[in-house]
Amino acid sequence: MIGLELRGITQDDIEFARIMRNENRNSFVDNREVSPAEQAEWFAGLADKPHVDFRIIWLDGIRIGTMSVTKHTDGSLEIGNGTVLDEYRGRGIATAAESMLADPRVRCWGTFFEDNPAAAVVMRRAGFEPIPIRR
Ligand SMILES: CC(C)(COP(=O)(O)OP(=O)(O)OC[C@H]1O[C@@H](n2cnc3c(N)ncnc32)[C@H](O)[C@@H]1OP(=O)(O)O)[C@@H](O)C(=O)NCCC(=O)NCCS
Repeated sequence: MIGLELRGITQDDIEFARIMRNENRNSFVDNREVSPAEQAEWFAGLADKPHVDFRIIWLDGIRIGTMSVTKHTDGSLEIGNGTVLDEYRGRGIATAAESMLADPRVRCWGTFFEDNPAAAVVMRRAGFEPIPIRR
């Protein structure tokens, strides 16, 4: 997709990522609201987690979402933290972004709540096996 970039999260992005997380927190297993202080602590902790690759989705130089891929010890890749701003949804952005992070050489997977079928549609199209979980 032209203009789409997945850049590693930087200090400048942490408030954006916090807002996206909090606005969409009911789509995630850990649905606690995150404070600025907790977000700063989380960001600092990423330095010790080289297996967690947290990205910001940019379109034409505008931040529009978040996504992460975690490399597990079994070599598999787990997609997570997928969010796209409301006004950019339904245009294939999450599908394109997840596709950029998939690696066909290893097992790629992610979890989704059964009441969130769009997440499963996106994962399957991008090459991640969607694993349903119950609330
Ligand atoms: C999930 C999310 C990241 C998808 O982003 P997006 O950029 O809109 O995704 P895409 O445009 O690539 O694809 C969305 C697909 O889901 C489909 N979809 C939407 N609602 C659906 C539903 N109720 N049932 C089935 N499919 C649905 C869309 O039709 C679209 O497919 P299409 O292109 O064939 O029409 C976005 O909706 C979001 O931020 N949701 C809130 C957070 C979240 O749920 N994250 C995932 C946690 S596992």
